[in-house]
Amino acid sequence: MSILGASNNLILIRFILNKKEIQTALPPGTLLLDFIRYHQHQMGTKIGCREGDCGACSVLVGDFKNKNLHYQSATSCLTALGNVHGKHVISIEGLNMAELNLAQQAMKDESATQCGFCTPGFVVSLSGFCLTEQEPTEENVLAAISGNICRCTGYKSIEKAAGTVCKSLENRGNESPIDFAIRKNYLPQYLTEIPARLLALKQNLNGALQPKTAKPKFLGGGTDLYVQQHETMHHEDIDFLFDQSDLKGIVQKGDICEIGAASTVTDMLESPVFQAYFPNLKQIGKLVSSEPIRNIATIAGNIINASPIGDLSIFFLALDAKIHLKNGNEKRMVPLRSLYLGYKNLDRLPEEIVEKISFKLPDEQSKINFEKVCKRTHLDIASVNSALFVELEENKILNAGLSAGGVGPVPLFLPKSSAFLSGKTVSIELLEELLELIQTEISPISDVRGTETYKRTLLHQLVKAHFSVMFKELDVKQLMNLSL
Ligand SMILES: Cc1cc2nc3c(=O)[nH]c(=O)nc-3n(C[C@H](O)[C@H](O)[C@H](O)COP(=O)(O)OP(=O)(O)OC[C@H]3O[C@@H](n4cnc5c(N)ncnc54)[C@H](O)[C@@H]3O)c2cc1C
Ligand code: FES
Ligand code: FES
Repeated sequence: MSILGASNNLILIRFILNKKEIQTALPPGTLLLDFIRYHQHQMGTKIGCREGDCGACSVLVGDFKNKNLHYQSATSCLTALGNVHGKHVISIEGLNMAELNLAQQAMKDESATQCGFCTPGFVVSLSGFCLTEQEPTEENVLAAISGNICRCTGYKSIEKAAGTVCKSLENRGNESPIDFAIRKNYLPQYLTEIPARLLALKQNLNGALQPKTAKPKFLGGGTDLYVQQHETMHHEDIDFLFDQSDLKGIVQKGDICEIGAASTVTDMLESPVFQAYFPNLKQIGKLVSSEPIRNIATIAGNIINASPIGDLSIFFLALDAKIHLKNGNEKRMVPLRSLYLGYKNLDRLPEEIVEKISFKLPDEQSKINFEKVCKRTHLDIASVNSALFVELEENKILNAGLSAGGVGPVPLFLPKSSAFLSGKTVSIELLEELLELIQTEISPISDVRGTETYKRTLLHQLVKAHFSVMFKELDVKQLMNLSL
């Protein structure tokens, strides 16, 4: 099958896998995991769940960012070959040296492996941590393995191994992570040659991947499509949006923030604009899936998949974000609050792509809080989630946006509750009245994530949590026994 570029010439997928330059005419929707195992016969990358949940298939993907090679972890079971075109991929085989590498040695020393099935994934994630510029802190190293699950060892020994890796990076100073890791013999030497080799490869890519038909499938990171349409994606005609430069970047224009649609959750968490305007960003970010998923999941993908419990949809509904759609040269803007018409039914034509998302940055008198309850802390979608945004003048609410997920067929903006708060002074009585009102605006159903009553109770509690976090002067505890 051919992959046609703008000039209709055959474009092969090209990337570097460990030390080896790859050139393949396989469909670009082929999964990286299958390519590594079944076409390169490297069996260290394991197949666990094929749904991004277990981390057994973890790889590192490197690409240039501000002229430096930058590596991130990714689940190869959800990554299309087209999304690694022109990049460096490191699988577990690419981390082997004559002796054990730093992460392998730490896992061995701490007896952090038993059956060994999960071990390559943990080693890849910990080695990836050595290659990132993140501060070597306990919190960061544990986040690096937040997408890896072990069914038999018990996490304490793995956490100790992670601690050893982290400690080994403490004296890195300002040296580049790659140089430091190689100088200390933590990772294989061949990594020093990769930047020059990748640059040369990029210069010979012969154009960007283009879809073959007028009705391709739009692909961001693939963390939704490859779970939902696992069997068919391989052969689909795909428009790869993930690396399109005009869909990347998070910028501030006056008091407006514009987010390129293909920005990932990690891009958002690392964005200086977000860090400046959202002091609780890190806590919010940790609630969204796990690090390897955040590295590839795009903001537009979260909004367009229209999951009733999409975390970013809920966050941006509270902020009254605008969605900028594009179909060729035709552009239009839809407020996110009017995008969802019914279950998976959007005010968007199939051929329209999201170009960017924009919203007004909160001023110093504004506050936003996001809350989520799910069955486990990491790597899980919500049973119910909610965000509350308020613009304040002292303790008077000038304007409010309350949103909730998991309590209706779409991510819900709650217009009556939001309007009710506007113009009111913050008080316990206000919260009590709000708690009654929100119940009239939601219509949860009983499903695998909980009964209707449970979800109503969860939202009731999450809204109390909003008030407790945002208005510390209130004694929300006195409402603890206030039930539905
Ligand atoms: C293990 C795991 C954990 C997860 N945890 C969470 C979680 O905690 N919270 C949460 O909210 N979600 C979670 N998700 C869901 C998913 O990761 C997110 O919704 C993600 O943001 C989807 O983005 P993507 O780029 O991967 O989407 P894709 O799969 O690439 O695309 C999803 C949909 O959006 C469309 N699309 C993508 N980009 C555009 C565009 N620019 N214009 C038009 N259409 C577009 C695609 O055609 C497709 O219909 C999880 C998923 C997995 C696998
Ligand atoms: S196989 Fe489980 S995350 Fe990929
Ligand atoms: S060692 Fe068996 S799954 Fe982790």
